[in-house]
Amino acid sequence: MPSAQSVAIAGGGIIGLTIAWRLAQLGLAVTVYDKGAPGGEASWAGAGMLAPGGEFDAISELAALALESRRLYPGFVRKLEEASRRPIDFQERGALDLAYSSAELASLESRAAAQQRLGIPSKPLTPSQVATFWPHIRKSSLAGARFYRQDAIVDPRHLVTALMEVCRKSNIILMPDCPVERVSVGGAGVRFHTSQGVSDCDFAVIAAGAWSSSLDVEGVPALPRCEPVRGHLIAYQQPAHTCETIVRHGHTYLLQRANGLLIAGASAERVGFVRDIDPSAVGALASEASFVFPHLAETSPAETWVGFRPLSDSVHLGAWHSPRLLLAYGHYRNGILLAPVTAARIAAAVNASSRTQ
Ligand code: GLY
Repeated sequence: MPSAQSVAIAGGGIIGLTIAWRLAQLGLAVTVYDKGAPGGEASWAGAGMLAPGGEFDAISELAALALESRRLYPGFVRKLEEASRRPIDFQERGALDLAYSSAELASLESRAAAQQRLGIPSKPLTPSQVATFWPHIRKSSLAGARFYRQDAIVDPRHLVTALMEVCRKSNIILMPDCPVERVSVGGAGVRFHTSQGVSDCDFAVIAAGAWSSSLDVEGVPALPRCEPVRGHLIAYQQPAHTCETIVRHGHTYLLQRANGLLIAGASAERVGFVRDIDPSAVGALASEASFVFPHLAETSPAETWVGFRPLSDSVHLGAWHSPRLLLAYGHYRNGILLAPVTAARIAAAVNASSRTQ
């Protein structure tokens, strides 16, 4: 690959920064534009679940990508820690799905059978096994559970810090507070019009999460629509080992970071980019959190926040009507999980285009 080739990336979240790092490793000159602080949106808000067991129960392109990316994660984290010299809270301890009625247990079991066919293993646990290994969990009415050993968590804020450091070491230019106003795609290259001027590059990547399709792009058909789905999360400061694995019940998940923060998420609301905290969503999460961990009823969440998931008709990973324009958005609930596989796909697309030019 000629080293003179350049790429501009719209969006400096975990997806955009991971792509930037990967393309810099291939020898491209990389610039990343972000409308605010890199990693300041979904990458900051996400709980950091790397958990196909909680997300997929049917064959789909997204499920296959998620499983592939989960396999890539240990190497991704190891290389990122080595290159950045920043610690990353990455816990491969599995996930526990709880059932508090026979109907919930039947539903867990039929879901697990479907997941087994996808390559997502889980095993049943009895209430007494749950009580032994998860002593803080509600025992009353517990009908059973399943354990997903391959599910894991990562602290997305650690990923952002480490990625920004490797970007700096790789001479990637980061342009914070620099919204991309227009992208003009031509046969010979791509022009980025930003709040700080115009620049030309060989390739452009759109990795702006829920904001991706609001970019004004000319020279190709309109980008696939992407809309925000707001999620509320809450967190409690708790003693270490309160929640050793991901714990799920119904639509709620709980996990504990190495720094003690026990996070419960998440709502799903199609309200546009409204950042207001909705007390009823917080109340519903707190109520579910204290259902699973009864001692939390004695305490209020220390933090509440919202983030915007990027929902599209599918995940978009690759060229859009020009080998010079690549899309990397639509990851919805799994952007943090899908970052390594997304970067690999975008790097492969850039490599293939470079060879044909
Ligand atoms: N990844 C979980 C969520 O979007 O809530």
